[in-house]
Amino acid sequence: MLSDPLRSGEELAERAVENYRENFDSSPEVLSQAPGRLEILGNHTDYNNGYILSIALDLSVVIAAGQEDTSPRRLSAWSSGLNERVEAGLEEIRPAGDSWINYPLGVLREIRKSGSRLPSINLAIESSLPVGAGVSSSAALELATAEAAYGMLGGRPTTLLEQAQLCQRAENDFVGVPCGILDQFSSLFGLRDHVLFLDCDTLDYDRIALPGSEVAVVIADSGVQHELVDGKYAALRSHCRRATQKIGELLGREISSLRQVSLDEFLGCREQIDEEDRRRAEHVIRENSRVLEGVEALRRGDPGRLGELMLQSHSSSRDLFGNSCDELDFLIESATGLPGFIGGKLSGGGFGGATVNLVEQNAAVEFQQRLAEACSNRLAAPARTFLTKIGDGARLLGKPQSS
Ligand code: GLA
Repeated sequence: MLSDPLRSGEELAERAVENYRENFDSSPEVLSQAPGRLEILGNHTDYNNGYILSIALDLSVVIAAGQEDTSPRRLSAWSSGLNERVEAGLEEIRPAGDSWINYPLGVLREIRKSGSRLPSINLAIESSLPVGAGVSSSAALELATAEAAYGMLGGRPTTLLEQAQLCQRAENDFVGVPCGILDQFSSLFGLRDHVLFLDCDTLDYDRIALPGSEVAVVIADSGVQHELVDGKYAALRSHCRRATQKIGELLGREISSLRQVSLDEFLGCREQIDEEDRRRAEHVIRENSRVLEGVEALRRGDPGRLGELMLQSHSSSRDLFGNSCDELDFLIESATGLPGFIGGKLSGGGFGGATVNLVEQNAAVEFQQRLAEACSNRLAAPARTFLTKIGDGARLLGKPQSS
């Protein structure tokens, strides 16, 4: 699905409609849009029932969609970025190898499980999200598919959280990626000029203002691609699970997640935990406190403190959680000396992907240029930097205009 970050939402929508007509010889019925996301704090805390702070981007996936009466029923999807059209059956929904069509297909399967009857469906997909940069183009594709399907078929879940969870299930159970709720939640709940806070245990959430007139967001792509399906993410989850179990034994009480362990309790028993499990658990437990402190900082209008916490989070990923890499560390070190830099960290799974940098708005253009220059001599792949804004969450754009 790729990737021309300079295209606006309107342009993506126009192109999606054009491509729909060319591919499917008819006009689309609905248009939908869903953004990528960045994690501001709370690295690998979501599946440990902890806290997260995140934003939706103003870069997104746009889908033009329509339905058809064919037999047998099938999904047909065109991706502009990949210049590829893929089809998959909807009579019995099975994964189509490791194709990207599994993301929309998995969502449609979940929607059918929740009681909707699926006709044949056509999708024309456009995107301004940099693929492989760790901004979750896959969640954006899932949410945009769900929005389009509800727009055509009805049957929308009662709450937004149920919609995010449905898309997470598609990714967990159908695509086979054991992710938490961060990506789908952020892509759906996003609000311009606001940071999202989620308690992954109670599922209480909040949106806290971070005015774009003051703070800009710069994404720096390390050029190192990391796919969550490759096993490292699952391995980190296992360390967290083992640590949880061990701490429960040591504290002599039932513990179902690291969220239920205070820092004092952890410090009191940490010497008895296997070293690797211990380091992973320490990262998660301290990261949860950082999120709560970050929430307070945002509420009192103190982005400087939030930035410090982001830098601490990055160091913790590097030193304790083991999910950074030289390129990501280099990006953060390079950003740290630049004028206007408020704070930054790796975003998402790690081992590659991008860093998220908060920058004073009036220094953002120069910051982006200087970071790109600093990287051009050092990183193997050409460093890509994107100056972006906090955007709105997934939505139906309505009926495309007929021409
Ligand atoms: C990936 C996953 C998320 C979350 C982050 C790390 O983005 O998809 O669920 O676990 O990594 O915080």
